[in-house]
Amino acid sequence: MRAILVKDGKGPVESLYLGEAEQPRPGPGKVLVKVKVFGLNRMDILQREGKYPMPPGAPTILGVEFSGTVVEIGEGVVEWREGDEVLGLAMGGAYAEYIIAPHRNLLRKPVHLSWVEAASIPEVFLTAFQALVVLAEVKKGDDVLVHAGASGVGLAAIQLARLNGATTVTATASTQEKLDMLLSIPAGATHAVNYKTSNFAAAVKETTGGKGADVVIDFVGASHWQKNIDSLAFDGRMTILALLGGSLVPEFDLRMILYKRLRIQGSTLRARSEDYQGDLIARFAHDAFPHITGAEGSGMIKTYIHKVYPWTEIQEAHSEMEANKNSGKIMCEIV
Ligand SMILES: NC(=O)c1ccc[n+]([C@@H]2O[C@H](COP(=O)([O-])OP(=O)(O)OC[C@H]3O[C@@H](n4cnc5c(N)ncnc54)[C@H](OP(=O)(O)O)[C@@H]3O)[C@@H](O)[C@H]2O)c1
Repeated sequence: MRAILVKDGKGPVESLYLGEAEQPRPGPGKVLVKVKVFGLNRMDILQREGKYPMPPGAPTILGVEFSGTVVEIGEGVVEWREGDEVLGLAMGGAYAEYIIAPHRNLLRKPVHLSWVEAASIPEVFLTAFQALVVLAEVKKGDDVLVHAGASGVGLAAIQLARLNGATTVTATASTQEKLDMLLSIPAGATHAVNYKTSNFAAAVKETTGGKGADVVIDFVGASHWQKNIDSLAFDGRMTILALLGGSLVPEFDLRMILYKRLRIQGSTLRARSEDYQGDLIARFAHDAFPHITGAEGSGMIKTYIHKVYPWTEIQEAHSEMEANKNSGKIMCEIV
């Protein structure tokens, strides 16, 4: 089969090329899908650079989310048939014509979603759902702070917070264009802050009448750490999903964690067990997926597509993400 490969196993954008790889076969409990569209995620860049801690057994081909058609069923799989139209999450291998996924990692593609929209959902919405709903236990009336608001995961988290009844959702981003977008979409942020020019902790305090955020979704780590702690309300919960701004905090006073009774948790999705992912996807399928439509759809929550590339332009697609230009998802079509 054809697949996007990385010359010498790791390297810069220029090392991505369309080559040949062995087509996988589905073992017991697995399904083979012919991929139509795959989504780019930030971790793809880290993996390409050789900086991503790969879970044991993960395929070396990049890509964790896709849409496509079921072409072969492994032993013991009863709920899928050849020809079923699906979207799904995998441990890797989506930058290819064919991918293997565990049978519980697939969702039926609704007719109201295009192939591109369907493939844009699994990784970012499941990550946001896990961080916000499962781990931080967001609830009606909460005040929420979401960093990297215009990222794929950020946009999903903002909307899921609104769906779950958050009173305010403050989002951060680096440009006015991104902030305007976050405030303009139907279930978008109620407040938006440029973290490069303003103190987001002060903004959250003002928005919440001095109380602070009940939930913070962070991707930044060290450079936001103190302000995140300052932003959190009593009994606040913060889920850390990435460390885009560094991992080392030189000096920190632990008293605020104790006195404010904070709960701070890191999380990953790709490294979770197949059972964990299957349970998470089942819960997501029930609680959130039915609310998601394409940008033109009438549902409250939408998937926002920044740009669609043919997979022959994979280098341009990676460069766009690397330059932080996207508001929403960057997608690639198999041509
Ligand atoms: N742990 C997990 O389970 C998990 C799963 C999926 C994704 N993730 C992580 O979630 C993050 C978002 O993923 P994505 O694919 O949605 O990303 P994305 O669409 O590429 O967006 C990432 C955004 O982060 C912001 N950013 C970059 N460097 C920053 C810095 N040093 N300080 C503050 N903001 C910075 C940029 O927006 P601005 O221009 O607004 O700064 C950038 O556009 C990534 O870091 C990814 O690795 C974690």
